[in-house]
Parts: sequence; C-alpha cells; structure tokens
Amino acid sequence: MATRRHENMNVCDRILVGKSPLILRVKELILQIANSDLNVVLCGESGVGKELVAQALHLSSHRKDKPFIKINCAAIPTQLLESELFGYERGAFTGADKTKPGKFELAQDGTILLDEIGDMPLLLQSKMLHVLQDLQFSRLGAKGDVKVNCWVLAATNHDLEQDVRDRLFREDLYYRLNIISIFIPALRERPEDIDLFIDHFAGLFVQKIETPPFGFSTEVRDFLRQYSWPGNVRELKNTVERLMLLGDWPTVKEELMARETRRIDGHELTTHPVPPTPNELNIETPPKKKFPCLKDVKKKAVFEAEGKLISEVLRETGWNRKRASEILQISYKALLYKIKGLNLRRED
Ligand SMILES: Nc1ncnc2c1ncn2[C@@H]1O[C@H](COP(=O)(O)OP(=O)(O)OP(=O)(O)O)[C@@H](O)[C@H]1O
Ligand SMILES: [Mg+2]
Repeated sequence: MATRRHENMNVCDRILVGKSPLILRVKELILQIANSDLNVVLCGESGVGKELVAQALHLSSHRKDKPFIKINCAAIPTQLLESELFGYERGAFTGADKTKPGKFELAQDGTILLDEIGDMPLLLQSKMLHVLQDLQFSRLGAKGDVKVNCWVLAATNHDLEQDVRDRLFREDLYYRLNIISIFIPALRERPEDIDLFIDHFAGLFVQKIETPPFGFSTEVRDFLRQYSWPGNVRELKNTVERLMLLGDWPTVKEELMARETRRIDGHELTTHPVPPTPNELNIETPPKKKFPCLKDVKKKAVFEAEGKLISEVLRETGWNRKRASEILQISYKALLYKIKGLNLRRED
C-alpha cells in the first residue's frame, strides 16, 4: 500500500510540475482518489492543466495500462458528438457504411475524459445521465446494449453550479458527475511555481529544437513571476518557447505588458465561460416539467432579440466592434462577450 502510494507520488511529480502548496494539494487529492473509480470533475480556468491532471489520475490508477480516451464535447457538433461517444452500427444513418465503436467502448476498462463538459448540449446530457446511471448504452442503430466499465472524468472551465442555476446544465447530471471535484488554481495564484515551469519548458524545448541557450536573467524571471498569466500555464509555455526561439525579450515584455493593460481596462476576454447560444436553450425543457419556466422563456426571447440587433449593427458597421458597442451603448467588453455567447460570426 505504502509502495503504491510512493509510486503514484512519483507519477504525479513526473507529470505535474509544481511545489506550491496549492499544487501539492492537487497532487495529494490525486493520490487519495486514484483508485476510487468515483466520477470526478476537474475545473479551473483555461490552460491551468486540467487535462494533465486527468492523465495523472489515470496513470496513478489501477487502469493505467488500459486506454485513456479523451473527447472534446465543445469541438464537435451535437449529432456527431453522439455518434463519437456511443458509436454506430452500419446503416444507422446515411453515410454509416461500417460499424464504428464510440469513445466509451474504446475506453473500456480504462478512463474517459469528457473534456469541456459544460458545453455538452442538453439533449446529450440526458443520454449521458442514463449511461452513468445504468452503466450501459447502445450504439446508434443497434438493438443490444454495451456494458460500460470505465472511469469517467470530466473537465470544464465553466462554473457548473451557475450553469445548473441557469438551467443550462442538468442538475441530476451535475450531481452524478461531480462526486469529487478537483479545482486547479490559476497560475497567478501559485507564482512560486513559475521558475520551475520556466526551467521545465526550456528543458523540453531544447530537446525538441536546437537553439542557442536563452538566459532567463533575474530581471526576466522577476517579470514573469509578477505577470498575471490570463492564459495560465499554456501561455507561460508558449512565452518560454518563443523566447528560446527568438530571444527577443524587449518585444515579448512589451506585448505582455500591453496585454496586462488591456486586461485591466477590461478589453480582453480570456477566461470567461461562454454563455449559451439560443439554440442550446431551445433543445429541451428542464426534466420532469411540462412547461418551461417563465425565466427561461424570457431569457430565450432576450437572447434572440439581442442576437438579431447585434448582428444588424455589426453588419452595418462592417464588424467594427468598437463602433458597434458605441451604437448599442454597451461596453466593448460586454459586446465581445455577447458576440461569443451568441456565436455570431462575420459572413464575408
Ligand atoms: N503542472 C503542470 N506541469 C507541466 N505542464 C503543465 C502543468 N499544467 C499545465 N501544463 C501544460 O500547460 C498546457 C495546458 O495544459 P492543459 O491542456 O492540461 O490545460 P487545460 O486546463 O486542460 O486547458 P483548457 O481549459 O484550455 O483545455 C499543456 O501544454 C500542459 O502540458
Ligand atoms: Mg483541456
């Protein structure tokens, strides 16, 4: 038992850089739950390392020699997501010319990571709930069921509790998934790890590409330690690689400072959860309710009206968002937020 714990600690240390109390707490949690098979939700801002923590959980568990399968619920359209998750039989739909197993089957005996679970459409959320309850599902177009035996991890940068309150995420699925949650703190909350990250990413980069060494001087390190890292570890990794390759510290510093200023002024959106699209609100009324509640109807109507007006103004201004925000009399930041939430795109 003690040996297994020691081995797992080594796995965690090998995978996850960091010695700050906050990251040590995450590593400790991984050790505690690695063999529990209980569903886990990993949350935290974009780029904090949720996927890496999921890998550390898998590799610390008794499933480590079995597959680790990841699916990004945000990147795949609804119809496709269902067939990706559960697979399909030959002839299940036009174009299904051969039977294909879904990610759940591929993850059999291993671990599945449902990435960006907060973006899973409501319709699929109810199917997912059944799968987690019954531990079985059927491929699209199949008669029989497939038994599921895999560890279910989910990751999100949404505030899922808020999504539940806003009826964008099913409460029953939330409780089913969120038996244990691991919150991975933003990089700015653990600046004492930044030097370790710099050395780690610089070391990895040297192995990949032969570059003359870049001296991370005290001045550079001090600056990087104090910067707020809205893109978290991913942004730090990219910055280190860029410095290693191009070595242009004054330009990099200037860009980071400009980014910081834009953020303070509130003109940059980096970590906000994406609000729902009207389409998502449309999909299904909340469980066990004959009628949608008035709040939802109101919200949907507002979304539709806002979407229409904002699209018109954007078209009119040739997608000049600064100008559009002035016409609409909302802040530039609020407009960007709405464009993202309403999923508006420029049509050239
Ligand atoms: N503790 C860590 N040790 C080493 N590398 C890390 C650590 N945390 C994050 N990284 C690296 O930072 C990058 C982003 O990590 P990851 O993809 O796991 O973040 P994420 O939280 O899943 O982001 P997103 O929400 O955007 O999907 C990856 O290259 C990952 O390897
Ligand atoms: Mg991720």
